[in-house]
Amino acid sequence: MPTRPATTSTTAWANDPQLKPMPVRTILKMGDPRLLRIAQPVRRFDTPELHQLVQDLRDTMAAANGAGIAAPQIGVDLAVVIFGSAHNPRYPDAPPVPATVLVNPQIVALSDDEEDGWEGCLSVPGLRGVVPRCTRIRYSGFDPFGQPIEREADGFHARVVQHECDHLIGKLYPMRVRDFSRFGYTEVLFPGLDASSDD
Ligand code: NI
Repeated sequence: MPTRPATTSTTAWANDPQLKPMPVRTILKMGDPRLLRIAQPVRRFDTPELHQLVQDLRDTMAAANGAGIAAPQIGVDLAVVIFGSAHNPRYPDAPPVPATVLVNPQIVALSDDEEDGWEGCLSVPGLRGVVPRCTRIRYSGFDPFGQPIEREADGFHARVVQHECDHLIGKLYPMRVRDFSRFGYTEVLFPGLDASSDD
């Protein structure tokens, strides 16, 4: 977080949005009961509160090098997730996922097939596990302005969406792990991975 120059007055600071520090919110960790709630649907779109929530999620995700984050992870009981990035140092081999804000999401499986893949979570720092996920999905929802979004996704894109939407029904990825011989500490499992960000 940038620090405010000592010479800047409080008034000037408040009037210049360029000078405001990034509001990086605390990410709740597994064990916090707020991560286990069923998130409430957003009922009003295009409000200052919703736009601020989205900005806080963006800033928090960026600071943590996350591939996605859900509102419950910063203690907000609303059905809002964001995900996507061109390149993520935590997932260097992953294909790009479109940067998306998804409100009140719904997922439909388009295939009975599942595939295993490694996942981590900002709420489960320092750990990775193999999680089976549906290979192909259709997801829908709304952007923060209330415009509908509907897409089909497969592979890593589908995995990210399923992981993030799980946060809205109180599911963390360790609850989806079936083979606990493939669950452990990132630094042990992937010693070459840049661990500069916690997870
Ligand atoms: Ni997560």
